[in-house]
Formats: sequence, structure tokens, C-alpha cells
Amino acid sequence: MSPLNPLGPPPPGRLHVACIMDGNGRWAESRGLPRTAGHTAGEENLAEVVRAAVQRDIGWLTVFGFSTENWIRPRPEVRHILGLHERLFGRVTELNENNVRIRWIGRPFDGPDARTPKYVQRAIRKAIADTAHNTGMVLTVAFDYGGRAELMGAVRSARAAGQRITPASIESHLHDPTLPPVDVMVRTSGEIRVSNFLLWQSAGAAIHFTDTPWPDFDAAELDAAIALVPAP
Ligand code: IPE
Ligand code: IPE
Ligand code: MG
Repeated sequence: MSPLNPLGPPPPGRLHVACIMDGNGRWAESRGLPRTAGHTAGEENLAEVVRAAVQRDIGWLTVFGFSTENWIRPRPEVRHILGLHERLFGRVTELNENNVRIRWIGRPFDGPDARTPKYVQRAIRKAIADTAHNTGMVLTVAFDYGGRAELMGAVRSARAAGQRITPASIESHLHDPTLPPVDVMVRTSGEIRVSNFLLWQSAGAAIHFTDTPWPDFDAAELDAAIALVPAP
């Protein structure tokens, strides 16, 4: 378990929605803008999607912000995306207004491969602490996240604790064992891929692939995704 994420009461919402927020670059390029403008628009849209999500039966919203594979992008783009995560984790007032707890999953900061700079680490820690008292939706941001890395870490930790390798022991060592199974996985911008996101948690998820690029993903799209989940 990421030591950063506090335990708290489960949220009232029923569903776990996971979003692979793809297509920021193409959104910008199609408007003749630099890719960085697309990332900025994507971060702003996430704030909108959070506002829509809290008005629906969503208990957990988990978003893919940056993958373990994304570090190979051009330096200036990576730097811009890092700054946007500082901004995202800085939206504490807004999150508190919406009773949202923000959390993080990704490679542990003290691990051998971790690359998250200190200022982003600080923003993540502070946002988690400053929204921990909320009781509504749990917004989990996957940053420096990879599903394979998470599973390898879980198996290693279970072994180190002398546990047999079982589904339960693996699950108890995931980055956040309190994350429930994903009900619906969304991927925007027309790519039909899972790209190493929540491999364990989305084993039984419905999948909503949409051509809409992430900066244009709206409440109507969210409803279309939720509609794929079977009734309880
Ligand atoms: C998703 O948008 C954001 C991140 C991966 C950080 P992209 O930057 O992948 O946008 P496209 O796929 O190039 O359009
Ligand atoms: C997936 O998007 C990761 C995030 C949205 C953060 P990418 O655009 O990096 O994925 P691939 O490599 O094209 O599958
Ligand atoms: Mg992409």
C-alpha cells in the first residue's frame, strides 16, 4: 500500500471509473497549437470531469496522468506535464468544495526506478493530506504508474512478507489495496489499447473506447461509459 494514501470510509458512490486520458497532443495539433497546450486543456478538462463525476453514482475515479513509459517523451513536454500535475494536486480548495479525496498510485518515490521530482512529490503528499478528511468520491491519479511494475512490486512484497502467492496476497500489496475492481475503463482519442493501466483491477471491467480526445471528454461521454456497467 502506498504509505501516502490514508484509510477512510468508503465513498457513497457505487462505481469505479478508470480513464486513460489520451489524445491531448492530437487535440492541440489539430488546432495548430503546441502539444503542451493540449496537456493544459486536458488538465483543465479533468477538473470538469471530476465535477461531473461527483454528481453521479461514482465512488472512485482513477485517471492515468503519466505512465512509466512516458518519461522518454521530449524533455520540455515532460517538464510541462510535471508542472500540470503540480497544478492538479494544487486544486485542494476545489476538491474540498466537492468533498473529494485525492490519492496517488505509482512507483514508490523511494524505489530504484522512481523519477518523480521532489516538487511533484511534495504537491502529491500535501494534496492527499489536505483532502483526507473528505468523505465523498476518491480521485486517484496514476503518475509514474505502470501495471506491470505494480504487479511485480506486489509479488515481491508478498514474498518478502513470507506470504504464499495468492490473489488475496497479491491484492493486499498493490499500490492501493483499497481500490475496488474497475467497473468501466474509458480510453479516449480512438486508441483501442489498455497501455499497462490497472491490469489487475480491471480484469472484469467494461471498456468504453471513444474517438473523443481527452480535452473534449464531457459529462455525456461519462454517462455513455457508465451505461455499459450492468445494473447491480
Ligand atoms: C495523453 O495525451 C497524455 C499523456 C500521455 C501524458 P497524449 O500526449 O498521449 O496525446 P496524443 O496521444 O499524442 O494525441
Ligand atoms: C497512455 O497514453 C498513458 C496516459 C494517458 C498517461 P499514451 O499515449 O502514452 O499511450 P500509448 O503509448 O500510445 O499506448
Ligand atoms: Mg497518446
